[in-house]
Amino acid sequence: MPRRHSWAEPYKIKMVEHLRMTTRAEREVAIAEAGFNTFLLRSDDVYIDLLTDSGTSAMSDRQWAGLMMGDEAYAGSRNFYHLETAVRQFYGYRHVIPTHQGRGAEHILSIMCIKPGDFVPGNMYFTTTKAHQELAGATFVDVIVDAAHDPLDESPFKGNVDLAKLEALIARVGADRIPYLCMQTNVNMAGGQPISLANIKATSQLCRRHGIRIMMDATRAVENAYFIRKREPGYENHSIAHILLEMCSYTDGCTCSAKKDSLVNIGGWLAVNDDDLAEQARNLVVLFEGLHTYGGLAGRDMEAMAIGIEESVQYDHIHARIGQVEYLGQTLLRFGVPIVRPIGGHGIFIDAARFLPHIPREEFPSQALAAALYVQSGVRAMERGAVSSGRHHDTGENIFPKLELVRLTIPRRVYTQAHMDVTAEAVVDLYENARDIVGLRFTFEPKYLRFFQARFEPVIGAKVLRSAPVEAGMHVDAMAALGDGI
Ligand code: F0G
Repeated sequence: MPRRHSWAEPYKIKMVEHLRMTTRAEREVAIAEAGFNTFLLRSDDVYIDLLTDSGTSAMSDRQWAGLMMGDEAYAGSRNFYHLETAVRQFYGYRHVIPTHQGRGAEHILSIMCIKPGDFVPGNMYFTTTKAHQELAGATFVDVIVDAAHDPLDESPFKGNVDLAKLEALIARVGADRIPYLCMQTNVNMAGGQPISLANIKATSQLCRRHGIRIMMDATRAVENAYFIRKREPGYENHSIAHILLEMCSYTDGCTCSAKKDSLVNIGGWLAVNDDDLAEQARNLVVLFEGLHTYGGLAGRDMEAMAIGIEESVQYDHIHARIGQVEYLGQTLLRFGVPIVRPIGGHGIFIDAARFLPHIPREEFPSQALAAALYVQSGVRAMERGAVSSGRHHDTGENIFPKLELVRLTIPRRVYTQAHMDVTAEAVVDLYENARDIVGLRFTFEPKYLRFFQARFEPVIGAKVLRSAPVEAGMHVDAMAALGDGI
């Protein structure tokens, strides 16, 4: 048996938050009341919350201390200058405009740069990013490599831009109608898959040749930097901070949701190098977010962000964070659960199409699986398939993306390995009884970002999970069978 080389958390626990344990009967009522949408559950009814890694991280004692140092001046708060210094130091951009969260920055970037009729290429869509591009009048064009759409493809950099697709778009519509390329790091909807530095560089060269700006979505850029260090030849001895700076150096600016990498519960920013663009952004942020030195945040939030940025690039932190995701993924793989490979940075993405081959795409297998997992175990996951994709801009038809996934997203510094084991047991139990899961249909469908507030009902009967397998936390045999860890 191979010797185990463990990672362990580079911190210890100072305070705990109690979780409520529920019965399966309680959860059946809760999910029905929530319209079989895990977004509509009350968090009090959730045991292990893997809905998202956004804003759900545990802050450090230094960050909590930073909250007490909040300078709540309307203008020129000292915490803004700390944030500006941190972004300049670790991301390297000149101008920093805080926003209440990532989509605030996306909104400002979109209305500032996009004219109706424009096209915005990107390495796979993200829901809010694309919605803002479309609201401003653009059409999003996916230019990610084909491998990203194949859950079984083991390529190390499935977040890469396909340069031929980008060139074809430029040839078709002309560079004048492409205000910028949106380059996502650790591509969320592809399963948290990284982009390589070589690809960032090549994409940047192509864009610069055509006078097209590159705006990075730096939401999970630190996690991406970790994969570059692990997988890209020549970077194994570089610090995460060094790699991050190099990634950003090939771009003209970024939007960032600080609720992920930067270890805070709220916050984001827009950063640009161009002085004129920065002036416009500072002007627009006043309309939608708040003055350019607070952008919808309290001074204390900006302080926590500044400290979080510095903590996020520490190797021990990011190694343990991604190590925990890897642990959950490897456990599921041992039981043959179909998940997106390679294992990504912020969560495990279950391939619901392969998990539930008996449920047609029109009955939203991912939505059904997320609801069933909650009933089974109290673990809350998120649909990342057709419901998230929405409808075609022009035809109004449902979009069925190649990937029909359920995301088990791991908050940073929050859960223990035992929580990962309980989650894995619940998923394995469901996988063994997959035919008990019933498809869903809409009973209410909102116009924008429908996955957040949509409601559903089972296509047959009243329950999404028909039989009653084992209660979560009680099923130890599966884990005993695991033997050695990773
Ligand atoms: N870009 C990416 C890649 C994201 O994952 C998100 C948010 C945003 C932008 C928007 O940032 O939420 O701060 O406004 N992702 C969350 C998630 C919602 O659960 O993946 P935000």
